[in-house]
Amino acid sequence: MDFALALDPHSPTPYYQQIYEALRQAILTGRLSARQRLPSTRALATSLGVSRATVTQSYDQLLSEGYLQTVVGSGTYVCDELPEDLLHSPAPEIASISPSPPVSLSAYGRRLVDFADSPTPEPAAQISFRYGRPALDQFPLALWRQLLVRRCRSGNWLDYATDPMGYWPLREAIAAYLSQARAVHCQPDHILITNGTQQALDLATRVLVSAGDAIALEEPSYLSARRVFTSQGAILHPIPVDELGLDVDKLAQTTAPIRLVYVTPSHQFPTGAVLSLPRRLALLAWAQQTGSLIFEDDYDSEYRYAGRPIPALQGLGLGQSVLYVGTFSKVLFPSLRVGYMVLPPALVPLFRRAKWLSDRQVPGLEQAVLADFIVEGHLERHIRRMRSLYDQRRQALVAALTQHFGCRVTVLGENAGLHVMVRFHTKISEAELIARAARVGVGLISASPQYLGQRPGHEFIFSYTELDENAIVTGIQRLATLSF
Ligand SMILES: Cc1ncc(COP(=O)(O)O)c(C=O)c1O
Repeated sequence: MDFALALDPHSPTPYYQQIYEALRQAILTGRLSARQRLPSTRALATSLGVSRATVTQSYDQLLSEGYLQTVVGSGTYVCDELPEDLLHSPAPEIASISPSPPVSLSAYGRRLVDFADSPTPEPAAQISFRYGRPALDQFPLALWRQLLVRRCRSGNWLDYATDPMGYWPLREAIAAYLSQARAVHCQPDHILITNGTQQALDLATRVLVSAGDAIALEEPSYLSARRVFTSQGAILHPIPVDELGLDVDKLAQTTAPIRLVYVTPSHQFPTGAVLSLPRRLALLAWAQQTGSLIFEDDYDSEYRYAGRPIPALQGLGLGQSVLYVGTFSKVLFPSLRVGYMVLPPALVPLFRRAKWLSDRQVPGLEQAVLADFIVEGHLERHIRRMRSLYDQRRQALVAALTQHFGCRVTVLGENAGLHVMVRFHTKISEAELIARAARVGVGLISASPQYLGQRPGHEFIFSYTELDENAIVTGIQRLATLSF
Protein backbone atom coordinates (compact mmCIF):
# COMPACT_ATOMS: atom_id res chain seq x y z
CA MET A 1 0.00 0.00 0.00
CA ASP A 2 1.59 3.29 -1.04
CA PHE A 3 -0.08 5.58 1.52
CA ALA A 4 0.42 5.90 5.25
CA LEU A 5 -2.46 4.82 7.43
CA ALA A 6 -2.16 6.50 10.82
CA LEU A 7 -4.43 5.75 13.76
CA ASP A 8 -5.33 8.28 16.44
CA PRO A 9 -5.23 6.63 19.88
CA HIS A 10 -7.01 9.67 21.44
CA SER A 11 -9.97 9.70 19.09
CA PRO A 12 -13.35 8.46 20.43
CA THR A 13 -13.77 6.65 17.09
CA PRO A 14 -12.88 2.96 17.47
CA TYR A 15 -9.84 1.66 15.55
CA TYR A 16 -11.83 -0.53 13.19
CA GLN A 17 -13.89 2.53 12.18
CA GLN A 18 -10.75 4.65 11.70
CA ILE A 19 -9.23 1.99 9.45
CA TYR A 20 -12.48 1.64 7.52
CA GLU A 21 -12.73 5.45 6.99
CA ALA A 22 -9.08 5.80 5.96
CA LEU A 23 -9.32 2.98 3.42
CA ARG A 24 -12.66 4.21 2.07
CA GLN A 25 -11.27 7.74 1.60
CA ALA A 26 -8.15 6.33 -0.08
CA ILE A 27 -10.34 4.37 -2.50
CA LEU A 28 -12.64 7.32 -3.25
CA THR A 29 -9.76 9.73 -3.84
CA GLY A 30 -7.87 7.23 -6.02
CA ARG A 31 -4.89 6.72 -3.73
CA LEU A 32 -5.95 3.10 -3.76
CA SER A 33 -6.85 2.36 -7.33
CA ALA A 34 -9.27 -0.12 -8.84
CA ARG A 35 -8.06 -3.74 -8.69
CA GLN A 36 -5.20 -2.78 -6.35
CA ARG A 37 -4.40 -5.53 -3.87
CA LEU A 38 -4.64 -4.71 -0.15
CA PRO A 39 -2.23 -6.09 2.43
CA SER A 40 -3.42 -9.18 4.26
CA THR A 41 -5.30 -8.56 7.50
CA ARG A 42 -2.40 -10.09 9.43
CA ALA A 43 0.22 -7.83 7.78
CA LEU A 44 -1.83 -4.64 8.21
CA ALA A 45 -2.66 -5.49 11.85
CA THR A 46 1.03 -5.97 12.59
CA SER A 47 2.07 -2.72 10.91
CA LEU A 48 -0.65 -0.74 12.75
CA GLY A 49 -0.11 -2.46 16.09
CA VAL A 50 -3.76 -3.55 16.41
CA SER A 51 -5.38 -6.96 16.60
CA ARG A 52 -6.08 -8.88 13.43
CA ALA A 53 -9.79 -8.99 14.38
CA THR A 54 -9.90 -5.19 14.25
CA VAL A 55 -8.56 -5.10 10.69
CA THR A 56 -10.86 -7.98 9.69
CA GLN A 57 -13.84 -5.98 10.96
CA SER A 58 -12.86 -2.98 8.79
CA TYR A 59 -12.31 -5.15 5.72
CA ASP A 60 -15.66 -6.90 6.28
CA GLN A 61 -17.47 -3.59 6.33
CA LEU A 62 -15.77 -2.44 3.11
CA LEU A 63 -16.52 -5.81 1.52
CA SER A 64 -20.19 -5.64 2.49
CA GLU A 65 -20.53 -2.09 1.17
CA GLY A 66 -18.97 -3.03 -2.16
CA TYR A 67 -15.60 -1.21 -1.96
CA LEU A 68 -13.53 -4.39 -1.75
CA GLN A 69 -13.77 -7.88 -3.15
CA THR A 70 -11.93 -11.06 -2.27
CA VAL A 71 -10.43 -13.37 -4.82
CA VAL A 72 -10.18 -16.84 -3.35
CA GLY A 73 -6.58 -17.90 -2.83
CA SER A 74 -5.27 -14.53 -4.00
CA GLY A 75 -6.29 -11.79 -1.57
CA THR A 76 -8.44 -8.67 -1.13
CA TYR A 77 -8.74 -6.10 -3.94
CA VAL A 78 -10.34 -2.70 -4.56
CA CYS A 79 -13.48 -3.16 -6.66
CA ASP A 80 -13.64 -2.01 -10.25
CA GLU A 81 -16.95 -0.27 -9.83
CA LEU A 82 -17.51 1.62 -6.57
CA PRO A 83 -20.88 1.80 -4.79
CA GLU A 84 -20.89 5.59 -5.32
CA ASP A 85 -20.83 5.01 -9.10
CA LEU A 86 -23.87 2.81 -8.81
CA LEU A 87 -25.78 4.91 -6.30
CA HIS A 88 -25.31 8.39 -7.69
CA SER A 89 -26.25 8.77 -11.30
CA PRO A 90 -24.89 12.02 -12.68
CA ALA A 91 -27.33 14.91 -12.32
CA PRO A 92 -28.45 16.30 -15.66
CA GLU A 93 -27.26 19.80 -16.48
CA ILE A 94 -30.10 22.22 -15.78
CA ALA A 95 -29.66 23.74 -19.22
CA SER A 96 -30.14 20.35 -20.83
CA ILE A 97 -33.64 19.93 -19.37
CA SER A 98 -35.93 20.94 -22.14
CA PRO A 99 -38.70 23.36 -21.07
CA SER A 100 -41.33 21.23 -22.77
CA PRO A 101 -40.24 17.60 -22.63
CA PRO A 102 -41.18 15.66 -25.73
CA VAL A 103 -43.50 13.34 -23.84
CA SER A 104 -47.18 12.94 -24.35
CA LEU A 105 -49.11 13.85 -21.22
CA SER A 106 -52.32 12.42 -19.85
CA ALA A 107 -55.40 14.64 -19.78
CA TYR A 108 -54.56 15.22 -16.09
CA GLY A 109 -50.95 16.13 -16.93
CA ARG A 110 -52.11 18.54 -19.64
CA ARG A 111 -54.39 20.32 -17.18
CA LEU A 112 -51.48 20.73 -14.74
CA VAL A 113 -49.45 22.55 -17.41
CA ASP A 114 -51.70 25.59 -16.97
CA PHE A 115 -51.32 25.83 -13.19
CA ALA A 116 -48.73 28.16 -11.67
CA ASP A 117 -46.54 26.53 -9.00
CA SER A 118 -47.46 28.93 -6.25
CA PRO A 119 -51.00 30.22 -6.56
CA THR A 120 -50.52 32.99 -4.00
CA PRO A 121 -46.96 34.31 -4.00
CA GLU A 122 -46.02 35.18 -0.46
CA PRO A 123 -44.87 38.71 0.24
CA ALA A 124 -41.31 38.70 1.60
CA ALA A 125 -42.07 41.74 3.72
CA GLN A 126 -40.86 42.69 7.16
CA ILE A 127 -44.45 42.56 8.44
CA SER A 128 -46.41 40.03 6.41
CA PHE A 129 -50.06 39.31 7.08
CA ARG A 130 -49.60 36.10 5.07
CA TYR A 131 -52.20 33.44 5.55
CA GLY A 132 -51.85 29.73 6.22
CA ARG A 133 -49.77 29.02 9.29
CA PRO A 134 -50.59 28.90 12.97
CA ALA A 135 -48.17 30.50 15.46
CA LEU A 136 -45.49 27.84 15.00
CA ASP A 137 -43.24 29.35 17.68
CA GLN A 138 -45.96 28.54 20.22
CA PHE A 139 -46.10 24.84 19.43
CA PRO A 140 -45.07 22.70 22.47
CA LEU A 141 -42.14 21.12 20.68
CA ALA A 142 -40.42 19.80 23.82
CA LEU A 143 -43.56 17.90 24.78
CA TRP A 144 -43.96 16.55 21.22
CA ARG A 145 -40.35 15.37 21.35
CA GLN A 146 -40.98 13.55 24.63
CA LEU A 147 -43.99 11.74 23.20
CA LEU A 148 -42.04 10.91 20.06
CA VAL A 149 -39.10 9.48 21.99
CA ARG A 150 -41.45 7.42 24.15
CA ARG A 151 -43.06 5.90 21.06
CA CYS A 152 -39.67 5.37 19.39
CA ARG A 153 -38.64 3.01 22.18
CA SER A 154 -40.56 0.28 20.43
CA GLY A 155 -40.13 -0.60 16.79
CA ASN A 156 -43.80 -1.31 16.14
CA TRP A 157 -43.95 1.52 13.63
CA LEU A 158 -41.57 0.18 11.06
CA ASP A 159 -43.86 -2.16 9.15
CA TYR A 160 -46.77 -1.36 6.80
CA ALA A 161 -49.94 -0.60 8.69
CA THR A 162 -52.53 -3.34 8.71
CA ASP A 163 -55.29 -0.85 7.83
CA PRO A 164 -54.78 2.03 5.36
CA MET A 165 -57.68 3.87 7.05
CA GLY A 166 -55.28 4.82 9.85
CA TYR A 167 -54.09 3.98 13.35
CA TRP A 168 -57.10 2.79 15.33
CA PRO A 169 -56.41 4.64 18.62
CA LEU A 170 -56.02 7.88 16.64
CA ARG A 171 -59.32 7.30 14.88
CA GLU A 172 -60.96 6.62 18.26
CA ALA A 173 -59.47 9.81 19.70
CA ILE A 174 -60.63 11.88 16.71
CA ALA A 175 -64.13 10.36 16.83
CA ALA A 176 -64.45 11.25 20.52
CA TYR A 177 -63.12 14.76 19.94
CA LEU A 178 -65.39 15.44 16.96
CA SER A 179 -68.57 14.22 18.54
CA GLN A 180 -67.94 16.31 21.62
CA ALA A 181 -66.52 19.50 20.03
CA ARG A 182 -68.31 19.59 16.66
CA ALA A 183 -71.40 17.41 17.17
CA VAL A 184 -70.15 15.23 14.33
CA HIS A 185 -71.97 11.94 14.12
CA CYS A 186 -69.26 9.31 13.72
CA GLN A 187 -67.68 6.00 14.64
CA PRO A 188 -63.94 5.36 14.38
CA ASP A 189 -64.67 2.85 11.55
CA HIS A 190 -65.83 5.72 9.33
CA ILE A 191 -62.74 7.84 9.84
CA LEU A 192 -59.98 7.87 7.24
CA ILE A 193 -56.69 9.45 8.29
CA THR A 194 -55.42 11.45 5.31
CA ASN A 195 -52.36 13.40 4.33
CA GLY A 196 -54.11 16.68 5.19
CA THR A 197 -57.21 18.19 3.62
CA GLN A 198 -55.43 18.24 0.31
CA GLN A 199 -55.40 14.47 0.04
CA ALA A 200 -59.02 14.30 1.17
CA LEU A 201 -59.92 16.58 -1.74
CA ASP A 202 -57.87 14.54 -4.16
CA LEU A 203 -59.29 11.18 -3.07
CA ALA A 204 -62.87 12.45 -2.96
CA THR A 205 -62.61 13.82 -6.49
CA ARG A 206 -61.03 10.65 -7.81
CA VAL A 207 -63.55 8.36 -6.20
CA LEU A 208 -66.69 10.43 -6.85
CA VAL A 209 -66.18 12.66 -9.87
CA SER A 210 -65.43 11.86 -13.52
CA ALA A 211 -64.10 14.32 -16.10
CA GLY A 212 -67.05 16.41 -17.28
CA ASP A 213 -69.03 16.03 -14.02
CA ALA A 214 -70.33 19.13 -12.28
CA ILE A 215 -68.99 20.36 -8.94
CA ALA A 216 -70.52 23.36 -7.15
CA LEU A 217 -68.35 25.51 -4.94
CA GLU A 218 -68.50 28.75 -3.07
CA GLU A 219 -67.52 31.92 -4.91
CA PRO A 220 -64.94 32.96 -3.75
CA SER A 221 -63.50 29.65 -2.63
CA TYR A 222 -60.32 27.86 -1.61
CA LEU A 223 -58.04 27.91 -4.64
CA SER A 224 -56.29 24.64 -3.76
CA ALA A 225 -59.65 22.85 -3.72
CA ARG A 226 -60.65 24.38 -7.03
CA ARG A 227 -57.41 23.24 -8.60
CA VAL A 228 -57.92 19.65 -7.51
CA PHE A 229 -61.37 19.70 -9.10
CA THR A 230 -60.24 21.22 -12.42
CA SER A 231 -57.13 19.01 -12.56
CA GLN A 232 -59.47 16.05 -12.72
CA GLY A 233 -61.64 17.58 -15.42
CA ALA A 234 -64.66 18.60 -13.34
CA ILE A 235 -66.86 21.44 -14.58
CA LEU A 236 -67.11 24.10 -11.89
CA HIS A 237 -70.28 25.92 -10.90
CA PRO A 238 -69.45 28.86 -8.64
CA ILE A 239 -72.28 29.79 -6.25
CA PRO A 240 -72.27 33.24 -4.64
CA VAL A 241 -71.61 33.76 -0.96
CA ASP A 242 -73.06 36.54 1.20
CA GLU A 243 -72.86 37.32 4.91
CA LEU A 244 -74.85 34.13 5.68
CA GLY A 245 -72.56 31.92 3.64
CA LEU A 246 -73.37 29.95 0.49
CA ASP A 247 -76.56 31.08 -1.26
CA VAL A 248 -78.38 27.76 -1.21
CA ASP A 249 -81.31 29.08 -3.30
CA LYS A 250 -78.88 29.85 -6.11
CA LEU A 251 -77.38 26.39 -5.74
CA ALA A 252 -80.83 24.83 -6.06
CA GLN A 253 -81.40 26.77 -9.31
CA THR A 254 -78.39 25.13 -10.99
CA THR A 255 -79.69 22.95 -13.79
CA ALA A 256 -76.57 20.77 -14.15
CA PRO A 257 -76.59 17.57 -12.05
CA ILE A 258 -74.15 18.46 -9.28
CA ARG A 259 -72.07 15.46 -8.10
CA LEU A 260 -70.37 17.26 -5.24
CA VAL A 261 -70.63 20.62 -3.52
CA TYR A 262 -67.57 21.99 -1.72
CA VAL A 263 -68.32 24.21 1.31
CA THR A 264 -66.55 25.77 4.32
CA PRO A 265 -69.60 26.39 6.54
CA SER A 266 -67.88 27.21 9.87
CA HIS A 267 -65.77 30.04 8.46
CA GLN A 268 -66.18 30.48 4.74
CA PHE A 269 -62.85 30.70 3.00
CA PRO A 270 -61.88 33.48 2.48
CA THR A 271 -64.83 35.76 3.40
CA GLY A 272 -65.24 34.31 6.91
CA ALA A 273 -69.06 34.11 6.68
CA VAL A 274 -70.72 31.46 8.87
CA LEU A 275 -73.35 29.41 7.06
CA SER A 276 -76.63 30.11 8.87
CA LEU A 277 -78.63 27.29 10.41
CA PRO A 278 -81.60 27.64 7.99
CA ARG A 279 -79.20 27.47 5.05
CA ARG A 280 -77.47 24.43 6.54
CA LEU A 281 -80.77 22.64 6.75
CA ALA A 282 -81.72 23.76 3.23
CA LEU A 283 -78.37 22.53 1.89
CA LEU A 284 -78.82 19.12 3.51
CA ALA A 285 -82.37 18.85 2.17
CA TRP A 286 -81.17 19.80 -1.33
CA ALA A 287 -78.40 17.16 -1.16
CA GLN A 288 -80.88 14.49 -0.15
CA GLN A 289 -83.29 15.39 -2.92
CA THR A 290 -80.67 15.55 -5.65
CA GLY A 291 -78.43 12.72 -4.45
CA SER A 292 -75.43 15.09 -4.41
CA LEU A 293 -72.69 14.83 -1.84
CA ILE A 294 -71.39 17.66 0.32
CA PHE A 295 -67.66 18.09 1.01
CA GLU A 296 -67.57 19.95 4.35
CA ASP A 297 -64.12 21.49 4.84
CA ASP A 298 -63.97 22.38 8.55
CA TYR A 299 -60.40 23.65 8.37
CA ASP A 300 -60.29 26.14 11.27
CA SER A 301 -63.48 25.62 13.27
CA GLU A 302 -61.53 25.08 16.50
CA TYR A 303 -61.21 28.84 16.75
CA ARG A 304 -64.39 30.69 17.56
CA TYR A 305 -64.31 33.94 19.51
CA ALA A 306 -67.94 34.97 19.89
CA GLY A 307 -71.27 33.19 20.02
CA ARG A 308 -71.95 29.50 20.30
CA PRO A 309 -70.48 27.24 17.61
CA ILE A 310 -73.03 25.97 15.10
CA PRO A 311 -72.85 22.17 14.88
CA ALA A 312 -71.15 20.73 11.83
CA LEU A 313 -73.36 20.08 8.79
CA GLN A 314 -72.38 16.46 9.02
CA GLY A 315 -73.96 16.10 12.48
CA LEU A 316 -77.17 17.83 11.41
CA GLY A 317 -77.53 15.45 8.49
CA LEU A 318 -76.56 12.36 10.49
CA GLY A 319 -73.70 11.72 8.13
CA GLN A 320 -75.71 10.56 5.13
CA SER A 321 -74.72 13.03 2.39
CA VAL A 322 -71.68 14.67 3.94
CA LEU A 323 -67.97 13.98 3.73
CA TYR A 324 -66.70 15.83 6.78
CA VAL A 325 -63.03 16.84 6.60
CA GLY A 326 -60.70 18.34 9.20
CA THR A 327 -56.99 18.94 9.50
CA PHE A 328 -54.26 19.35 12.12
CA SER A 329 -52.44 21.86 9.89
CA LYS A 330 -53.99 24.84 11.66
CA VAL A 331 -54.25 23.56 15.22
CA LEU A 332 -50.82 21.92 15.36
CA PHE A 333 -48.45 22.42 12.42
CA PRO A 334 -48.89 22.04 8.65
CA SER A 335 -45.90 19.79 7.94
CA LEU A 336 -47.44 17.12 10.17
CA ARG A 337 -49.65 16.38 7.14
CA VAL A 338 -52.42 14.73 9.06
CA GLY A 339 -56.07 15.32 8.37
CA TYR A 340 -59.17 13.15 8.56
CA MET A 341 -62.35 12.40 6.68
CA VAL A 342 -65.56 11.19 8.26
CA LEU A 343 -67.14 9.16 5.49
CA PRO A 344 -70.71 8.02 4.88
CA PRO A 345 -70.48 4.33 5.84
CA ALA A 346 -71.23 3.07 2.32
CA LEU A 347 -68.13 4.83 0.95
CA VAL A 348 -65.66 3.46 3.49
CA PRO A 349 -64.49 0.39 1.49
CA LEU A 350 -63.81 2.46 -1.63
CA PHE A 351 -61.86 5.15 0.18
CA ARG A 352 -59.86 2.45 1.96
CA ARG A 353 -58.80 1.08 -1.43
CA ALA A 354 -58.16 4.53 -2.87
CA LYS A 355 -55.93 5.46 0.07
CA TRP A 356 -54.01 2.21 -0.22
CA LEU A 357 -53.40 2.78 -3.91
CA SER A 358 -52.51 6.42 -3.41
CA ASP A 359 -49.87 6.23 -0.66
CA ARG A 360 -50.55 3.15 1.49
CA GLN A 361 -50.97 5.07 4.77
CA VAL A 362 -50.07 8.13 6.80
CA PRO A 363 -46.76 7.49 8.66
CA GLY A 364 -47.45 5.30 11.71
CA LEU A 365 -45.16 6.95 14.22
CA GLU A 366 -46.70 10.40 13.73
CA GLN A 367 -50.18 8.94 14.05
CA ALA A 368 -49.28 7.26 17.34
CA VAL A 369 -47.70 10.41 18.78
CA LEU A 370 -50.73 12.44 17.72
CA ALA A 371 -53.07 9.91 19.34
CA ASP A 372 -51.15 10.30 22.62
CA PHE A 373 -51.22 14.07 22.26
CA ILE A 374 -55.01 14.03 21.98
CA VAL A 375 -55.77 11.32 24.53
CA GLU A 376 -53.52 12.87 27.19
CA GLY A 377 -55.37 16.20 26.90
CA HIS A 378 -52.58 18.21 25.23
CA LEU A 379 -54.61 19.05 22.14
CA GLU A 380 -57.44 20.65 24.07
CA ARG A 381 -54.96 22.54 26.26
CA HIS A 382 -53.06 23.78 23.22
CA ILE A 383 -56.25 24.91 21.50
CA ARG A 384 -57.38 26.75 24.64
CA ARG A 385 -54.05 28.55 24.90
CA MET A 386 -53.94 29.44 21.22
CA ARG A 387 -57.55 30.58 21.17
CA SER A 388 -56.78 33.18 23.80
CA LEU A 389 -53.55 34.27 22.04
CA TYR A 390 -55.25 34.57 18.64
CA ASP A 391 -58.17 36.37 20.23
CA GLN A 392 -55.83 39.10 21.53
CA ARG A 393 -54.08 39.36 18.16
CA ARG A 394 -57.39 39.42 16.30
CA GLN A 395 -58.71 42.19 18.53
CA ALA A 396 -55.52 44.20 18.05
CA LEU A 397 -55.84 43.86 14.27
CA VAL A 398 -59.52 44.80 14.09
CA ALA A 399 -59.06 47.73 16.49
CA ALA A 400 -56.07 49.08 14.54
CA LEU A 401 -57.92 48.78 11.22
CA THR A 402 -60.96 50.55 12.62
CA GLN A 403 -58.91 53.24 14.30
CA HIS A 404 -56.79 54.05 11.25
CA PHE A 405 -59.21 53.47 8.39
CA GLY A 406 -62.68 53.99 9.88
CA CYS A 407 -65.32 53.78 7.17
CA ARG A 408 -62.68 53.24 4.47
CA VAL A 409 -62.46 49.61 5.51
CA THR A 410 -64.85 46.67 5.98
CA VAL A 411 -63.66 43.75 8.10
CA LEU A 412 -65.34 40.41 7.44
CA GLY A 413 -65.38 37.10 9.30
CA GLU A 414 -63.78 38.34 12.50
CA ASN A 415 -65.60 36.03 14.92
CA ALA A 416 -63.86 32.83 13.98
CA GLY A 417 -60.82 31.24 12.37
CA LEU A 418 -57.30 32.46 11.87
CA HIS A 419 -57.81 35.34 9.46
CA VAL A 420 -60.16 38.14 8.55
CA MET A 421 -61.00 39.41 5.11
CA VAL A 422 -60.43 43.11 4.72
CA ARG A 423 -62.09 45.22 2.03
CA PHE A 424 -60.48 48.62 1.46
CA HIS A 425 -62.70 51.26 -0.10
CA THR A 426 -60.26 53.08 -2.31
CA LYS A 427 -59.90 54.31 -5.87
CA ILE A 428 -56.31 53.18 -6.46
CA SER A 429 -55.82 49.79 -8.08
CA GLU A 430 -55.24 46.65 -6.03
CA ALA A 431 -51.79 46.16 -7.56
CA GLU A 432 -50.81 49.72 -6.67
CA LEU A 433 -52.02 49.21 -3.11
CA ILE A 434 -49.92 46.05 -2.75
CA ALA A 435 -46.88 47.83 -4.21
CA ARG A 436 -47.24 50.81 -1.88
CA ALA A 437 -47.63 48.50 1.14
CA ALA A 438 -44.49 46.62 0.10
CA ARG A 439 -42.55 49.90 0.03
CA VAL A 440 -43.28 50.39 3.74
CA GLY A 441 -42.40 46.77 4.53
CA VAL A 442 -45.94 45.39 4.77
CA GLY A 443 -46.94 42.25 2.89
CA LEU A 444 -50.56 41.94 1.75
CA ILE A 445 -52.26 38.89 0.28
CA SER A 446 -55.00 39.62 -2.20
CA ALA A 447 -58.17 37.52 -2.10
CA SER A 448 -58.60 37.89 -5.87
CA PRO A 449 -57.09 34.50 -6.87
CA GLN A 450 -59.78 32.81 -4.79
CA TYR A 451 -62.44 34.07 -7.23
CA LEU A 452 -63.28 32.02 -10.26
CA GLY A 453 -65.27 34.75 -11.98
CA GLN A 454 -65.48 38.52 -11.55
CA ARG A 455 -63.05 39.78 -8.89
CA PRO A 456 -64.29 42.69 -6.84
CA GLY A 457 -60.69 43.71 -6.02
CA HIS A 458 -59.30 45.48 -2.95
CA GLU A 459 -60.04 42.44 -0.79
CA PHE A 460 -57.21 41.07 1.30
CA ILE A 461 -56.74 38.08 3.56
CA PHE A 462 -55.20 39.26 6.82
CA SER A 463 -53.95 36.49 9.07
CA TYR A 464 -53.14 37.44 12.65
CA THR A 465 -51.60 34.18 13.84
CA GLU A 466 -47.91 34.74 13.26
CA LEU A 467 -47.52 38.41 14.20
CA ASP A 468 -47.52 39.66 17.77
CA GLU A 469 -49.70 42.62 18.73
CA ASN A 470 -46.88 45.15 18.29
CA ALA A 471 -46.14 43.99 14.79
CA ILE A 472 -49.83 43.98 13.90
CA VAL A 473 -50.35 47.54 15.11
CA THR A 474 -47.14 48.76 13.45
CA GLY A 475 -48.17 47.12 10.17
CA ILE A 476 -51.56 48.84 10.17
CA GLN A 477 -50.01 52.17 11.19
CA ARG A 478 -47.64 51.89 8.23
CA LEU A 479 -50.53 51.17 5.88
CA ALA A 480 -52.31 54.22 7.26
CA THR A 481 -49.40 56.45 6.22
CA LEU A 482 -49.98 55.51 2.57
CA SER A 483 -52.33 57.85 0.79
CA PHE A 484 -55.04 55.65 -0.62
C1 LIG B 1 -59.94 26.32 3.20
C2 LIG B 1 -58.79 25.48 3.65
N1 LIG B 1 -58.96 24.16 3.83
C3 LIG B 1 -57.96 23.38 4.26
C4 LIG B 1 -56.70 23.89 4.51
C5 LIG B 1 -55.62 22.98 5.05
O1 LIG B 1 -55.07 22.15 4.14
P1 LIG B 1 -54.10 20.95 4.57
O2 LIG B 1 -54.80 20.16 5.61
O3 LIG B 1 -53.92 20.18 3.32
O4 LIG B 1 -52.85 21.56 5.08
C6 LIG B 1 -56.47 25.24 4.30
C7 LIG B 1 -55.10 25.76 4.49
O5 LIG B 1 -54.72 26.83 4.19
C8 LIG B 1 -57.54 26.06 3.88
O6 LIG B 1 -57.37 27.37 3.71
